[in-house]
Amino acid sequence: MKILVVGSNGQLGKEITRQFEGKHELILKDIPAIDITDYASVEALISATKPAVVINAAAYTNVEKAEEDEATAYRVNALGAQNLALVCRKFDTKFVHISTDYVFDGATDVAYDEFDAPNPLCVYGKSKLWGEKLVEQVGGAYYILRTAWLYGEGPNFVRTMLKLSETRDQLKVVADQYGTPTYTKDLVWVLEQLIQTEFYGLYHASNQGSCTWCDFAQKIFELTGKAMKVEPVTTAEYPQKAKRPHHAVMDNKMLKLRGLDVMRTWEAALQDYLETESKQLKTKD
Ligand SMILES: NC(=O)c1ccc[n+]([C@@H]2O[C@H](COP(=O)([O-])OP(=O)(O)OC[C@H]3O[C@@H](n4cnc5c(N)ncnc54)[C@H](OP(=O)(O)O)[C@@H]3O)[C@@H](O)[C@H]2O)c1
Repeated sequence: MKILVVGSNGQLGKEITRQFEGKHELILKDIPAIDITDYASVEALISATKPAVVINAAAYTNVEKAEEDEATAYRVNALGAQNLALVCRKFDTKFVHISTDYVFDGATDVAYDEFDAPNPLCVYGKSKLWGEKLVEQVGGAYYILRTAWLYGEGPNFVRTMLKLSETRDQLKVVADQYGTPTYTKDLVWVLEQLIQTEFYGLYHASNQGSCTWCDFAQKIFELTGKAMKVEPVTTAEYPQKAKRPHHAVMDNKMLKLRGLDVMRTWEAALQDYLETESKQLKTKD
């Protein structure tokens, strides 16, 4: 299958490249080669390359910075997504767009499914929700995958925790925000499954289960055998500009209703990631 990946240098983009190379015909693009906020460039790229599928792995993902740079967040996450959707509809191309659990306010202890109403608390979440809405308004053959707490090839929470463990033996980690850490490898696996179908629409796509950032950190240290004291703190004790949801756990209901496979548990995925990372570190030595 001929697949265009925009945002190919990001965490998810790199994982798509790793898993699809040799299996699909890939066209990999990122800024500055392609700027998704520029409609004419997006149109020129898609009309010249004629992919069967376009995957939008590009986004403005700095949640804190978005609070101060709302215009750029909306341009990339909302208008960028719309540009891609418009051109994909024009050329009858399947379009995969990635969204986030931060579209929810997290003010419930029940997992959200695709039929629950979003209510984002921060600029990043709002700009991503507008991206979803604009893609839906354009219509066509689109899939929107809402994912969460991603880690893979790039800067992420797991790598930050492991880096900190080199110089510290105790850490304070937020223990009143719940979500689901999701391995990019598993997200790509679900994505690949979906693009073989014509079941377009909105999907929650995260690993299974849930935890707090504090539980996540403890699991990372437990699985890597590091003696780290992790002290739980509240969100109020760790003030940030962007308001985060308290409980943004997602039920992957649409995948289940469609009879498609859901991802493994977040603990099993994390174990796999840490094993893969340690093998790669050994190869680099
Ligand atoms: N990371 C998470 O925890 C998380 C959680 C839930 C959902 N998501 C969603 O998952 C998707 C992938 O996230 P990720 O973590 O892989 O993001 P990422 O690592 O930040 O990668 C995004 C890529 O998009 C590029 N980009 C930014 N603006 C662009 C533009 N105007 N045109 C073209 N490319 C542009 C970035 O380049 P620069 O680095 O040069 O800006 C970067 O290479 C995003 O839609 C994100 O919102 C992520």
